[in-house]
Amino acid sequence: MQKNQIYKCDICGNIVEVLHVGGGTLVCCGQNMTLQNEQTADSRTEKHVPVIEKTAGGYKVTVGSALHPMLDAHFIEWIELIADGKSLRQFLKPGDDPVAFFQTEAKTVSAREYCNVHGLWKG
Ligand SMILES: [Fe+2]
Repeated sequence: MQKNQIYKCDICGNIVEVLHVGGGTLVCCGQNMTLQNEQTADSRTEKHVPVIEKTAGGYKVTVGSALHPMLDAHFIEWIELIADGKSLRQFLKPGDDPVAFFQTEAKTVSAREYCNVHGLWKG
């Protein structure tokens, strides 16, 4: 297990992030939770890989280069910017744009997003 990994319960849908690594196994609804792999390339269209743009005062993150749908049944739940050791997360809901602005002076950044249907993506 590693810090910042995301695990999901395949039965009830709980999703958790590892903030501190202990030694045990994450269990929910009586079975092991499933590690969500950080996917980096969408084979059809790039609707999932987060695109990071430097803007005045921070960074804008868009999902993805072709905008991802934001429907009740299929949407981006959150966008996270990892910026010089800080984790900044914007939660989204259906109907929002799949875009987030993060105010930070950080020089080294990466982004992750979670799609409720297609899982975890990194860019
Ligand atoms: Fe999706």
